[in-house]
Amino acid sequence: MRYIHIVGIGTGNPEHLTVQAINALNAADVIFIPSKGAAKTELADVRREICHRYVTNNATRFVDYDVPSRQTADRSYVESVDEWHEAISATYERLFLEHLTDSESAAFLVWGDPGLYDSTLRIIDRVSGRGKVALDYSVIPGITSIQALTASHRIPLNLVGKPVQITTGRRLAESFPDVAETAVVMLDGEQAFSKIDDPDAYIYWGAYLGTKDEIIIAGRLVDVSEHILSTREQARARHGWIMDIYLMRKGHDFDDRE
Ligand SMILES: C[S@@+](CC[C@H](N)C(=O)[O-])C[C@H]1O[C@@H](n2cnc3c(N)ncnc32)[C@H](O)[C@@H]1O
Repeated sequence: MRYIHIVGIGTGNPEHLTVQAINALNAADVIFIPSKGAAKTELADVRREICHRYVTNNATRFVDYDVPSRQTADRSYVESVDEWHEAISATYERLFLEHLTDSESAAFLVWGDPGLYDSTLRIIDRVSGRGKVALDYSVIPGITSIQALTASHRIPLNLVGKPVQITTGRRLAESFPDVAETAVVMLDGEQAFSKIDDPDAYIYWGAYLGTKDEIIIAGRLVDVSEHILSTREQARARHGWIMDIYLMRKGHDFDDRE
């Protein structure tokens, strides 16, 4: 049976790697490296840098592969993601059949943590479901962009004894601050924070966290919203891509003390 190590690698700083992750990479016969097109070669470079630093096993084989891109025209969001996952499953199946013998193992380096807004585990499940390759796998946790964000801003994630919501830009307006006074927003292509009109809201924003290009901005939303928008736009133009995340907060520790 082929064995797959699904390794969380943190969010751009090679020092985010855990000892467990380094050991898993060195245990793999093959390491698969995705290339996502020119704009994201920097992300592939981070994976290469990690392998260069930490893989000491001379027998390890490295295999690059192209990640299929998601088609969005004439499909609902769900159809588009479903089709995309199927295409990636077919790619993984081919990689396993072509590059691994039945008793060998491989590793994928997954951005951040494999359990947070990432589909690798769903894809591996689909590959098993297709029935052509017998697989077993393990998951190595990684530092998430949420942890990178709160560490860079030197803030706790939650207010004392309070919940936190993790959501996407598309859904922020539905929930903040009604569901939780702290919302972490990921995958926000529309800068949903700029549509929140609340004089008491704070924002802690970060882009390229963990990398040498990291930018962070924090303050009262009404005071810093424009600054974040212009900084984000300039950075995106300069790099050709951006990954950003933010925490929105209303209220303070012990606000509801009785
Ligand atoms: C597909 S999700 C992957 C999340 C990842 N599994 C994790 O644990 O953070 C991609 C989103 O994560 C956030 N993200 C990931 N890396 C980041 C970084 N270095 N700086 C800022 N945001 C990041 C952004 O919101 C981005 O849109």
